[in-house]
Amino acid sequence: MAKSNMEQDILKVLYTEEEIKARVQEMGDELYEKFADKNPLFVGVLNGCFIFMADLVRATQVKSELEFIGLSSYHNGVKSSGVVQITRDLQRDITDRHLIVVEDILDSGNTLAFLNNYLLSKGAASITIVTLLDKPSRREKAITADLAGFVVPDEFVVGYGLDYAQQYRNVPYIGVLKPEVYSK
Ligand code: XMP
Ligand code: MG
Repeated sequence: MAKSNMEQDILKVLYTEEEIKARVQEMGDELYEKFADKNPLFVGVLNGCFIFMADLVRATQVKSELEFIGLSSYHNGVKSSGVVQITRDLQRDITDRHLIVVEDILDSGNTLAFLNNYLLSKGAASITIVTLLDKPSRREKAITADLAGFVVPDEFVVGYGLDYAQQYRNVPYIGVLKPEVYSK
């Protein structure tokens, strides 16, 4: 185990590195079956997707391309503001492309509801939403994932790309942050 000065801020581990790896491979196998003949475009939602995206595209050995979009609605807090901003726009034409949207967590649904409409307005042929984590208990928008890694309880989770105020993204597992860390 690597040394860590972040472990002290984690209340409990929800999913270990091994559990994540096994589940991501299952997801990759599922995507392979669906997209083997479609030359899909993976669209990662920055910043949270960066670790999951890296693992998912290697677990999905399909001829494909990658793209990223930066979206923000949390402003360093633990609750969605509801207003989604594009912090980095798509850098290419997505007209008639089969998109695989890669998100870290589907929570209130504000981010993906916004993104789904945005991608449709840009002429996507199809949109498949893949999220590592799904927190259905807090949904505000009628949006569902086509493929979700794990369903998580209503707690603020970090690690494996997910942050609190941009920190903890490099924690290798998914854990629940101690409430005293964000109520300070
Ligand atoms: P919404 O609420 O729009 O959330 O579905 C999507 C984005 O918000 C971030 N998010 C979280 N990040 N722990 C985090 O580290 C959480 O529990 C959490 N809930 C939402 C995340 O970036 C996601 O893309
Ligand atoms: Mg995100």
